[in-house]
Parts: sequence; structure tokens; C-alpha cells
Amino acid sequence: MGLRNTAERYGSAARALHWSVAALVFSQIAGGSVLEELPRRTALRAFAFDAHESVGLAVLGLVAVRIAWRLVNVAPVATGHGWQRLAAALAHFALYALMVAVPVVGYAMVDANGFGVVFFGVKGPDLMAADKNLAKRLAEVHETLAWLLVALAALHVAAAGWHHCALRDGTLARMRRRRSS
Ligand code: HEM
Repeated sequence: MGLRNTAERYGSAARALHWSVAALVFSQIAGGSVLEELPRRTALRAFAFDAHESVGLAVLGLVAVRIAWRLVNVAPVATGHGWQRLAAALAHFALYALMVAVPVVGYAMVDANGFGVVFFGVKGPDLMAADKNLAKRLAEVHETLAWLLVALAALHVAAAGWHHCALRDGTLARMRRRRSS
């Protein structure tokens, strides 16, 4: 199985990007939800925030590569009726948009709070003056968009399960490694 997609299957690059981004987004949701519970002014809390910010920005980079790779490759031909294909295309577009928006808003929130954003030890650019009210509103937006991403990802998993178990049309297999490859 090659690196690039074909009309029948996703190639190894698209599959690696799909599953690594899925795992990282899942860990960001789980980790992000406990950040505020961690004891204040501890090394653990500082480490957890730095890790969440760094991995979140890595997700943004991987999603950018994923979108670019998607644009220069053919996509496997969609299955199902017209409305199902339209619903899948809209859901995929919304997933990409949320995977970009959640980390971008996360960055803006930390920046507006006046804390420097750190990417694996390297300080990111300071884009705005500290504004605590704006930071609070951005925290709400970050949270809402993240939970919207969870809801849509759950729908995406359910649709993949339906294709695999009820329709048995091989849709899930297109994103999995072939036994022979
Ligand atoms: C795909 C990427 C990301 C996902 C899925 C994600 C998800 C989440 C989730 C679910 C929460 C908990 C929200 C809540 O229930 O209160 C959270 C909190 C947080 N996130 Fe992210 N995040 C991502 C990227 C980022 C980035 C890039 C940054 C900053 C550079 C960031 C900074 C924060 C901070 C500071 C909090 C704690 C907010 C608070 O003080 O309540 N996140 N994130």
C-alpha cells in the first residue's frame, strides 16, 4: 500500500495522520478537562498546562499538514445516497474547522491572559495585550468548541460503526492498514 490515496483507499500518510490526530485530540480532551482541578501553584499544574498547550499546537500543525495532504490527493469515492454523502462531507468539513479553531482559540486565550504560550519549551509570539475579560470569554469559546468537537467526533465514530456493522460496505477498512501491507 502506497503513501498516497487511491480512489478505493486512503494511503499510509493519510491513515497515519488520521489516527495520530484522533489519539492526540482524545488525549487533549481528557487532559484539558482536568487542568482546572489540579492544585494551584504546583509543578504538576504548570507541567500539565505546558503539555496541554504544546500538544495542542502540535495538533494544529498536524491538522495543517493533514488538510494540505487532503487537498493534493484524491479522496476515496464516498459511498451511500446523495444526502448521506452530503452529510458526511459537511461533518468532515466541520471536524477540520473545529480541529483548527480549538487550538487557535486556546492560544489566543492564554495570550490574552498575559501568560506566554510555550511550545515544548519555546516561547510563542505575544500577539495581544493582556485582557482578562477577553481571556475569560475565550476560555468559554475554547470549552464550547472543544465539546462540539467531542460531539461531532462521537457522531463520526457512530457513522463509521454503522457503515462497518450494518451496511458492511468497507468504509472503515479504507482507513485501516491492509493485512498484507
Ligand atoms: C486540539 C487541540 C485542543 C483541544 C481538543 C483542547 C481541549 C480542551 C478542553 C476539553 C479543555 C477543558 C475545557 C473545560 O471543560 O473547561 C481545555 C482547557 C484548556 N485549554 Fe485546551 N485544547 C486544545 C488546544 C489548546 C491550546 C493550543 C492551548 C493553548 C496554547 C490550550 C489551552 C487551554 C487552557 C489554558 C485550558 C484551561 C482553561 C481554563 O482555565 O479553564 N488548549 N482544552
